[in-house]
Amino acid sequence: IKRIGVLTGGGDCPGLNAVIRAVVKTAIRQYNYEVVGFINGFAGMIKKEYRLLTEQEVSGILHRGGTILGTTNRDNPFRYAVKENGELVFKDVSEQAIANLQELGVDALVVIGGDGSLAIANEFYQKGLPVVGIPKTIDNDLSATDTTFGFDTALTTASEAIDKLHTTAESHHRVMVLEVMGRYAGWIALHAGIAGGADVILIPEKPFTIEGACAKIKERASKGKKFSIVVVAEGATIKDGELVVQRVVKESHDSIRLGGIGNQIGEAIEACTGMETRVTVLGHLQRGGSPTAFDRILSTRYGVGGVDLVAQDKFGQMVALKGTDIVGVTLESAVSQLKKVDPDGELVHAAESVGICFG
Ligand code: F6P
Repeated sequence: IKRIGVLTGGGDCPGLNAVIRAVVKTAIRQYNYEVVGFINGFAGMIKKEYRLLTEQEVSGILHRGGTILGTTNRDNPFRYAVKENGELVFKDVSEQAIANLQELGVDALVVIGGDGSLAIANEFYQKGLPVVGIPKTIDNDLSATDTTFGFDTALTTASEAIDKLHTTAESHHRVMVLEVMGRYAGWIALHAGIAGGADVILIPEKPFTIEGACAKIKERASKGKKFSIVVVAEGATIKDGELVVQRVVKESHDSIRLGGIGNQIGEAIEACTGMETRVTVLGHLQRGGSPTAFDRILSTRYGVGGVDLVAQDKFGQMVALKGTDIVGVTLESAVSQLKKVDPDGELVHAAESVGICFG
């Protein structure tokens, strides 16, 4: 191997630059490879938009949010949207993308991505391309790894937000609803809720009722705690589904952009408790900014581990954190199912034991 390619796919995530830096430094220092960085995710591979990444290029980016490789757009070479006669059609341009890599002398590809991008990486691997994956998502919902990079930073942002909401909630005797990210899994809501001392946590894996949440808030008020903090994951599931937004969240991104479920829950809580309620949608604050020390270390280990997999010819694999070790797992196992919170697991038990209500 003389030259490897690297790209970042899907949404951005704190720690992306730290991974890119580690990939480039390891490739050059340990293995004497050249590194080509594709711009704008898989689109760069399709359009041959890239730049040679030297150590100079990745200097000073360890702590920076975002990605130096352009927007991490969601283009898929196997279903690539093109306009033909004014109509949008989806084409398989994967052969072209592979031919582009060969033309550029790229012998192996490192894909940094979440479930969508890693599934594309796996499709390329099935077609014979030497690919390795690095797991990225603030949602922490990738199976086959204990943790994805970006999660700790998002969680830190969310728990700091809860701390701030606490003081204002207490001053005004209000219920504060905080909507956090997590379409399919409640990891951010659960961890941040525990870290921030929330009273109610609502997640997709544990269907809730508004009555259950309100009962907890009223019980607190009756004991003199005249404020409460409710943390809700954007994909939280209501029992019997009477909140309209729930169905919308599952079907499109639009309700997420508009910050749907938090507002609806806030209104419903105000109606059933009679307590003044305010809603905060944390949104993309969770994806921005500088990665935490934990994420910088994990990202660095993942970047190094990804290039080590290439050097060991372990293609079709993804780096993963298992306990305290960085290991290789198959891309197949990484994308076969999402990792969800176990509603009967230890973490939920711990939260319930300290009085947190799941509605
Ligand atoms: O997967 C990461 C994530 O931030 C989710 O938590 C969220 O639902 C989604 O992406 C938001 O996507 P977009 O940035 O396209 O609005």
